[in-house]
Amino acid sequence: MDSRIPAFRLPTGKAMPALGLGTWQLTGDVCTAAATKALGLGYTHIDTADFYGNHAEIAQALANASRKRGELFLTSKVKPFDLRHDDLKASAARLLEELKTEYLDLLLIHWPNKEIPMAETFTALAELVAEGKARHIGVSNFTVRHLTEALQVSKVPIAVNQVEFHPGLYQKELLAFCKEHDILVTAYSPLGRGGLTDDAALAAIGEAHGKSAGQVALRWLHQHGIVAIPKASSEAHLKENMDIFDFSLTDEEMARIDALPGKRLVNPPFAEFED
Ligand SMILES: NC(=O)c1ccc[n+]([C@@H]2O[C@H](COP(=O)([O-])OP(=O)(O)OC[C@H]3O[C@@H](n4cnc5c(N)ncnc54)[C@H](OP(=O)(O)O)[C@@H]3O)[C@@H](O)[C@H]2O)c1
Repeated sequence: MDSRIPAFRLPTGKAMPALGLGTWQLTGDVCTAAATKALGLGYTHIDTADFYGNHAEIAQALANASRKRGELFLTSKVKPFDLRHDDLKASAARLLEELKTEYLDLLLIHWPNKEIPMAETFTALAELVAEGKARHIGVSNFTVRHLTEALQVSKVPIAVNQVEFHPGLYQKELLAFCKEHDILVTAYSPLGRGGLTDDAALAAIGEAHGKSAGQVALRWLHQHGIVAIPKASSEAHLKENMDIFDFSLTDEEMARIDALPGKRLVNPPFAEFED
């Protein structure tokens, strides 16, 4: 693992790089080029999903990289319509084929689906862990209510909850619940879908550290013990986003960012959020 990007510990004791490349809306040659560039710069963690339609491009970038599979951390996600036992097993087998890999470091349920009993879904996930096809399993877009139910039925640790998290959406209670249950939080849309990169309050804090508003947003997540997966396509953005491990925000700066206003940016019709 590249020494420039630190890692957080998963319940298995394995390391998860604290920063990865998000790939939603990255497809085709732009996706292959961005992921290849990221791996060349020292990123070792890539986040994709069945929904993103870019597994072939990610597989190509992994093939272009000189790194061994064991040095990389690859996450993908199953669609919420594929959570029946047999659908999930078939979906996972196809994801592995598309990604040209024997296993995923992390396999997530992309969104909860109240129509399908969680016990059935988590039985399939535990089987995938036993078969060595998923090193860890987890969830995404789960609220405390979903997690409470999942923790009751899962026979394997729920390693991660990937949720929208950024200075405009400080999900304090959810973070505390996850920490209490040893679930690592991964922040999606950590730059507020790009909107926080010119936020005046973050820029003012960054000035004292010689850092940009986006770097302050990513550093705030890191100091809260949260993995971040910013999506970036240019080399300049990829480099800027990983250059956050040589400075610290003070307690006072952290508190100011905690209190910033904002709102949820990702809320599709099938979401099961309570706010
Ligand atoms: N589990 C889920 O349901 C879910 C939902 C949403 C997202 N995600 C994951 O989270 C990842 C990140 O979230 P996101 O893509 O929504 O948004 P994001 O990472 O918050 O923001 C991405 C945007 O910021 C821009 N950007 C990146 N670095 C920048 C920099 N240094 N300066 C200025 N602009 C910069 C990118 O532009 P360029 O491309 O031009 O660099 C892009 O437009 C996704 O790609 C996906 O992997 C998961």
